[in-house]
Amino acid sequence: MSFEVKVLPSNHRFDVGDGETVLAAAIRQGVGLPYGCQDGACGSCKCRWVAGEFELGIHQLKALGEAERAAGFILACRTKPTSDLVIESHELPAEG
Ligand code: FES
Repeated sequence: MSFEVKVLPSNHRFDVGDGETVLAAAIRQGVGLPYGCQDGACGSCKCRWVAGEFELGIHQLKALGEAERAAGFILACRTKPTSDLVIESHELPAEG
């Protein structure tokens, strides 16, 4: 089972496998979401939830404050979709 993630404003779409995080799937498919530690600590992969459902490793959310969580921010490196998902994030230019 996989889900589709759509990134705004680019409308880039990519698939996320069962149990895979949004960031891991983006890296695997060459989508340029920003990231750093890949461990929920640095906040580099912060993006905004727009629609869809997901599991979030709440205990791992070192880089998100209460106010940010309440405002719909998520960490792509800790977010596992449980439905198709729409997020808002700036994308980095492709390498090469
Ligand atoms: Fe550091 Fe996600 S890459 S918090």
